[in-house]
Amino acid sequence: MDSGIEMIAKRPKMDDAEVKPKLGRGGSYIKEGGDMTHSTCIIFSLIEEVGALATALKIFKDNNVNLNHIESRSSKRSPNHYEFIVECDTTSKGLGKALDILHKTTTYMQVISRDHMDNADTVPWFPGKIKELDRFANQILSYGSELDADHPGFTDPEYRKRRKYFADIAYHYRHGQPIPRVQYSEEEIKTWGTVFRHLTKLYPSHACREHNHIFPLMVENCGYHEDNIPQLEDVSNFLKDCTGFTLRPVAGLLSSRDFLAGLAFRVFHSTQYIRHSSKPLYTPEPDVCHELLGHAPLFANPSFARFSQEIGLASLGAPDDYIEKLATCYWFTVEFGLCKQEGEIKAYGAGLLSSFGELEYCLSDKPEIRPFDPYRTGEQKYPITEYQPVYFLADSFEDAQRKMRKFALSIPRPFTVRYNAYTQSVEILDTKPQVQGLVRDIQFEMQLLSDAMMKIK
Ligand SMILES: [Fe+2]
Repeated sequence: MDSGIEMIAKRPKMDDAEVKPKLGRGGSYIKEGGDMTHSTCIIFSLIEEVGALATALKIFKDNNVNLNHIESRSSKRSPNHYEFIVECDTTSKGLGKALDILHKTTTYMQVISRDHMDNADTVPWFPGKIKELDRFANQILSYGSELDADHPGFTDPEYRKRRKYFADIAYHYRHGQPIPRVQYSEEEIKTWGTVFRHLTKLYPSHACREHNHIFPLMVENCGYHEDNIPQLEDVSNFLKDCTGFTLRPVAGLLSSRDFLAGLAFRVFHSTQYIRHSSKPLYTPEPDVCHELLGHAPLFANPSFARFSQEIGLASLGAPDDYIEKLATCYWFTVEFGLCKQEGEIKAYGAGLLSSFGELEYCLSDKPEIRPFDPYRTGEQKYPITEYQPVYFLADSFEDAQRKMRKFALSIPRPFTVRYNAYTQSVEILDTKPQVQGLVRDIQFEMQLLSDAMMKIK
């Protein structure tokens, strides 16, 4: 059966031209492309006063460090400070000593990219604003219309044409636009109807309570019916009203890193095409049945939405080996997760809720079931073309979220991230003023909480 994770894959090693140093979140310092092989970028702050920059630059001069580039602006981290970004030539032998001195003489300093020949402290680029997810549209690993020789639609020219049509919609989609509505053919609606009828028979006994609670609401509000394929735009608007999650069409295979980054913004990359009509109960890749029947309902649940976002936030700037662990945790939860409810085991993973055969199988006595623990789950190997031999059981979405958050703390990152829902951006908490701002926000929330509790009494 299908699996959403097939649409995400490990990011290939970037070549020089692809290296995008991250030059401070919330700032406009974005330097793209170029040969970064022999350069290191540093951001540092100085108190605004005459001669401050000259003093800092003298440090580079005294240590024979060549500078390739320099920019400045008022600091967004601290008032009365000025920020500088400098790109240094790493072939200069005195760079290490210069950085030591700079560290002691500036109010803030961070190496934001390093010569990736030694690759020690590089933080991979990640989107800081929701609009930056647009970059992924053109960074797909393979186009959605390219089918393998064993794909049921491989020899069907009409189906291939249709797949290209859907891939093109997604490729040209940009953040903020409505998702184009699609006129599905009679054949496509028939395929959807077959899947819909089979699965909805099993949901009452096999799906988790949250899925069963939300599904009728989607029938009522989003056009879920056996003779109608819901429009992504309608489903996305419904989810937005419930939890702020939105759907975004995807043209093909995304890297794990990019796919997970979408979740950090409560954005789910979704396919829009449907499987081939010759095998309505089988698809080798995610399709609209998998996304809308398996994934979408649970994104309307606040706890599940928070859990999914937690995985996404943990992935931002994480090293490659941790991306793999997080993608594996995603696989065994969002795709193939089981949970305990009223003493029974129920399915909440989309790969299960969209597969008639595996939904029955996963609750039989055949597979092995282990408790969800991100440290162990993240290491588990899994097949992608057959039923899972092992599933992981969560006590609840809240419990899974707590465990994910704890696991995220073990990821080696030199910063903490926080999602700002007002600006739909990711804030990096790595300076005192930013942490103080967070404390003020929490104090305000605590006052609201205390006021509300008093009134409830
Ligand atoms: Fe999926």
